[in-house]
Order: sequence, then structure tokens, then C-alpha cells
Amino acid sequence: MLLQKNMGSVIHFIVLGLISGVTDGAGVLPDGLNAAVGGKVMFTTTLTPGTPFRSVNWKFGTEDVFTWNFNNFTAPEYEGRITFFISTGSLELRNLALTDRGEYTVTILRAGEPPQSGSTRLDVYAPVSNVMVTSSSTELVELSSVSLSCSSSGSSLSFLWLNSSSEVTGSDRVQITDGNSTLTITNVMRYDQGPFRCRVSNPVSEGTSAPVTLSIYSPVSNVRVTSSSTELVEFNSSVRLSCSSSGSFPSFLWLNSSSEVTGSDRVQITDGGSTLTIVNVTRYDQGPFRCHVFNLFSEGNSAPLNLTIYYGPENTIWTISPPKEHHQEGSDISLSCSADSGPPAQFKWFLNGDLLSDGPELKLMNVQQNQRGNYSCQAFNDNTLRYETSQPSVVSVGKFEIGRLVEIVEDSVH
Ligand SMILES: *[C@@H]1O[C@H](CO)[C@@H](O)[C@H](O)[C@H]1NC(C)=O
Ligand SMILES: *[C@@H]1O[C@H](CO)[C@@H](O)[C@H](O)[C@H]1NC(C)=O
Ligand SMILES: *[C@@H]1O[C@H](CO)[C@@H](O)[C@H](O)[C@H]1NC(C)=O
Ligand SMILES: *[C@@H]1O[C@H](CO)[C@@H](O)[C@H](O)[C@H]1NC(C)=O
Ligand SMILES: *[C@@H]1O[C@H](CO)[C@@H](O)[C@H](O)[C@H]1NC(C)=O
Ligand SMILES: *[C@@H]1O[C@H](CO)[C@@H](O)[C@H](O)[C@H]1NC(C)=O
Ligand SMILES: *[C@@H]1O[C@H](CO)[C@@H](O)[C@H](O)[C@H]1NC(C)=O
Ligand SMILES: *[C@@H]1O[C@H](CO)[C@@H](O)[C@H](O)[C@H]1NC(C)=O
Repeated sequence: MLLQKNMGSVIHFIVLGLISGVTDGAGVLPDGLNAAVGGKVMFTTTLTPGTPFRSVNWKFGTEDVFTWNFNNFTAPEYEGRITFFISTGSLELRNLALTDRGEYTVTILRAGEPPQSGSTRLDVYAPVSNVMVTSSSTELVELSSVSLSCSSSGSSLSFLWLNSSSEVTGSDRVQITDGNSTLTITNVMRYDQGPFRCRVSNPVSEGTSAPVTLSIYSPVSNVRVTSSSTELVEFNSSVRLSCSSSGSFPSFLWLNSSSEVTGSDRVQITDGGSTLTIVNVTRYDQGPFRCHVFNLFSEGNSAPLNLTIYYGPENTIWTISPPKEHHQEGSDISLSCSADSGPPAQFKWFLNGDLLSDGPELKLMNVQQNQRGNYSCQAFNDNTLRYETSQPSVVSVGKFEIGRLVEIVEDSVH
């Protein structure tokens, strides 16, 4: 050991003395070497076997690693980790640790020649592993900001971000900071969903994170309902209401007046909820219908939409005023016809099957016995093109004296 130290010092002294010569002799060792923790490295000199060596000395910084001068001297911490190649003076170093990084120098003395020397830098890297991206959020609203951080084991790491398969570059919206390990997107747009991955490398290895996909929600707006038609005939029409809106990932809900519409035989909700189909509409389906659209971050309602549903006529009946069983000849009576109908029906009056007049009311002024008979009214809806005629019923007209019926002629009597 003592000898090795002394020898080293001597050579060191010589080397210093010939410093310009050493620089000229560059190339005895390569420029720089990279290796992984746990791996090995070969320091190969450029010397070719020839004149035998008198001594070879390897140093790490200023510390001896190995000296050969017809005997091998290995520093204790290199015991079992090195192999020396006597023909070229090369050295293999194994089981590398981060602490092995630094400057290695070899000095070789051959009989009758000036000392030859070379030095090189060894970089030892912990391999890249566990590359991971964490996002401040993966569901966010358009125009907000998000920050993705990349973490990894390993040493001397370089970071690179991938958006799908393209490298992310900085812009006014996109900042890459913290030694490229953080990607910040301000004013996110719907196109920024990624997938984003982080690629980490050092000179000895590389690794890529799992992809991170962002869900970018744009606020719901412009909710609108369109209808395949707004004028419908009861029992003979189907209608399709479609809801549209801006905004991503919309969910739909239909309201009929203020109640939620649920599906049934007659009512189908399709296209992810955006379409409401009512088959065989009834008069009760007029609405108002509204579409409610929502996503994680916002919601909106359409304007109400009313359906006009033509129906009837139904329940066509007439009533008489005054409501007497028998009417005095010469009195005034009034018959009035009604029907359930949308829009209101038009009416016609018939006496014993013969058309009398138009209009909802029939006034019989100074009624005469020859006006007795079966009265009926017919209702007509000019939108549904449907007719309905009331049951005929008798208007009885007679002659009375005070308190006593003098003469009555019933049609049925004939
Ligand atoms: C020195 O080490 C080299 C390589 O390990 C070996 O070939 C040689 O025999 C050793 N010399 C002595 C004297 O131990
Ligand atoms: C960050 O990435 C850019 C572009 O690839 C590169 O020029 C720069 O050296 C990197 N910075 C760091 C600290 O790795
Ligand atoms: C990601 O890629 C998409 C599609 O090329 C692009 O529109 C978007 O701006 C990119 N976003 C970022 C943050 O690089
Ligand atoms: C429409 O509905 C009415 C009453 O619910 C029913 O009587 C009729 O058969 C239905 N028509 C069709 C075409 O389904
Ligand atoms: C139903 O509509 C069809 C086609 O518009 C028409 O031909 C038919 O007469 C209608 N039926 C009724 C009962 O209104
Ligand atoms: C709408 O609401 C009315 C009143 O509750 C109901 O009678 C009708 O069936 C509803 N129509 C639909 C399509 O939900
Ligand atoms: C729709 O119907 C509702 C009540 O059913 C009514 O208050 C509203 O004015 C109607 N709207 C339109 C545009 O007709
Ligand atoms: C009136 O109508 C009823 C029922 O249709 C019928 O039985 C009766 O004979 C009719 N009377 C006259 C006077 O036509």
C-alpha cells in the first residue's frame, strides 16, 4: 500500500511535469462514458500491445484505484469490482454506484518512452423507472387551467411531454416548467383532451408514463327544442321533439309542464335522451315541453314549446232554454249546441233530419206547433275534419190555458 501510494505520487509528479505532453497525447482514453447504477463500464485505452509496461496507475480523482508495477495493488473499495487488462492497460469497473461518477485518469510508463496519460469522465445514472403523471384535475371546464406533473425515479432526468404522439411545445397557453417536468395549460380548449404522456430519459435509459386523458367540459348553452310539427291531430299524429345544445357531455331531461317525462308505450326517449317521440298524441300532450340539459359543470333550459293538438268534436249535445218539457205555442225558446272540440266546432241544426241553420244557437221566436219535432245538432272541426251529431231529441210545442194543457201534439203520437 505504501509502495503504491509512493509510486502514485511519483507518477503524479512526472505527469504534472509533462502536463503539455499529456494534453498532446489526448486520446489514450475516450472523451466521456455513461453507465447505469449496478452496471459496469470499460475504460479502454487506445494503446496497442507492444513494448511491455513498467507501470500502470488508475486514479479516481486524486485517489488510487489500481496500480500495477509487476504486482497488482487494488484499493480496498475496488476489491472484486475491477479487472485489469495488462496488454492495453484498460480497466473494467463493475457494480457501479452513483458515487463512482467523476474523473478517471490512467498513467502508463513504458521503458524508454515518456509517460502516457489520459483521463475521462464517467457519468453514472440511476435508471429511469416509475414514470408517473399526476393531473391537478382530469375533468375540467373549458377555459380553466390544468397542471400535469411528471415524476420518475432515476438520476439526471430529462422530461418531454407528448400530446397523443406529438411532442408538446410551449405557447402562450401551454407552459412547460420545473425542468420540463410540469405541463400547465391555461384556457384549456376542448381539443386538449390528450392523451398526455410524459417521457423521461437519461443517457442510460428512458421510460414513458401511462396516458392521462382530460375531459374538457364546455358550459351548456343554446338549449333548443325543435319539433317535427307543432300542429297535430289527436289519435292520428306522432311528433318528435329534438333537443340540441352547445356544451360537451350533455345529459338530457324532458319536462312536460313541470313534471319529468318518462317513457311509456306512447312516449319514447331516444338518442341519449335528446329525442322525445310521442306517438298517437292526445289533447293532453300540449305541454309546454321543455328540455333541460346539464353536464358536470353547468345546465340550461330550452324555451317552452307548446303543441297544438286538434281534437274532437266529442260529446255533442244541445240544451234548451227555458228548460221545460213542453213549450207554449208563441213562446220564444233557444237551443244551444256544444261539443268538446279544439279548435271550437262549427254547428249545424237539423229538424227531423233536414238542415235548418248554422251556428251554435238556434232561436225559435214565437214558436209554432209545426216546429215541434226531433232536433239535432251537428258539430264539425275543420282541423280534424271530423263530424259528430248529437242524439236527436224532441221539442214539444202545445197550447196551454192557465194551469192546464189544452192541446198537445206529440210527434210520437202520429
Ligand atoms: C494482476 O492482475 C492481472 C489481471 O487481473 C492478472 O492477469 C495478473 O496475473 C496479476 N498479476 C499478479 C502479479 O498478481
Ligand atoms: C426542456 O425541453 C426543451 C425542449 O426540448 C429543451 O431545449 C430544454 O433543454 C429542456 N430543459 C430542461 C431543464 O431539461
Ligand atoms: C393537443 O393536440 C391537439 C390535437 O392536435 C391540439 O388541438 C391541442 O391544442 C393540443 N394541446 C396541447 C396542450 O398541446
Ligand atoms: C290512439 O290512441 C287511442 C286512445 O288512446 C286509441 O283508441 C287508438 O287506437 C290509438 N291509435 C293508434 C294508431 O295507436
Ligand atoms: C289520419 O291521418 C291520415 C293521414 O294524414 C288520414 O288519411 C286519415 O284520414 C286520418 N284519420 C283520422 C281518423 O283523422
Ligand atoms: C303531459 O302531461 C299531461 C298532464 O299531466 C299528461 O296528461 C300527458 O300524458 C303528458 N304527456 C306526455 C307526453 O308526457
Ligand atoms: C303555452 O301554453 C301555456 C299554458 O299551457 C301558456 O301559458 C303559454 O302562453 C303558451 N305559450 C305559447 C307560446 O303559446
Ligand atoms: C224522434 O227520434 C226518436 C229517436 O230517434 C224516434 O224514436 C222518434 O220516432 C222521432 N220522432 C219524430 C217525430 O221523428
